[in-house]
Amino acid sequence: MAGLVIEGYVIASADGMLADARHEMPDALKFEGDKKFFEAALDRAALVVHGRHSHEGQPNSPKRKRLVLTRKVAALAPDPDTPNASLWNPAGATFEEACAFAGVASGTAAIIGGPVVFDLFMDRYDTFWLSEAPHVRLPGGEGCFVGVPARTPHQVLASHGLRPGTPHLLDPASEVTVTPWRR
Ligand SMILES: NC(=O)c1ccc[n+]([C@@H]2O[C@H](COP(=O)([O-])OP(=O)(O)OC[C@H]3O[C@@H](n4cnc5c(N)ncnc54)[C@H](OP(=O)(O)O)[C@@H]3O)[C@@H](O)[C@H]2O)c1
Repeated sequence: MAGLVIEGYVIASADGMLADARHEMPDALKFEGDKKFFEAALDRAALVVHGRHSHEGQPNSPKRKRLVLTRKVAALAPDPDTPNASLWNPAGATFEEACAFAGVASGTAAIIGGPVVFDLFMDRYDTFWLSEAPHVRLPGGEGCFVGVPARTPHQVLASHGLRPGTPHLLDPASEVTVTPWRR
């Protein structure tokens, strides 16, 4: 989309999970360095996009324009429960229409999950920022992308034409890194 850069953000366990078997993000996946990185990225974004269970819950969250995916609306509606948010059903309105409804025409759209939401944008990311916690395993958890764990997160991103850049260390003690995947 002209004028809008699309970026994805997730932290995944070594076995590719973004949540545990109860569909919750456990404390084991929360790291100070990654939280700071994610928070700074969302502070720079013009728009945050996520499913109904993936709100980031940060101090600046109420200031951010956001699209919340839900099938409870036919297309687009203001979200009565969340400041600056619009409810969006992609079956009834395109992303371009949703951005216009939210009043966003330029800058970065940060896509923050969950897996089905990431999947919707798989062929459109300019950059996907994949954070990885190599010492955490969440057996039976929720894969970070559709198709994980049958495929690894790397295989999924590569199959959509994305290639890894240089990893940055976010949390030395836990060896958590973030790697930008770009076209
Ligand atoms: N580790 C990480 O970086 C990370 C990132 C994101 C999320 N998480 C965690 O993962 C879990 C997310 O679980 P989840 O997969 O249930 O998340 P989710 O994608 O946030 O929420 C799913 C809901 O979003 C709506 N939705 C999703 N796709 C849609 C579509 N194509 N059209 C219309 N509505 C759509 C539906 O809402 P309705 O039911 O209202 O129709 C659906 O029930 C949470 O615990 C979250 O904290 C972790």
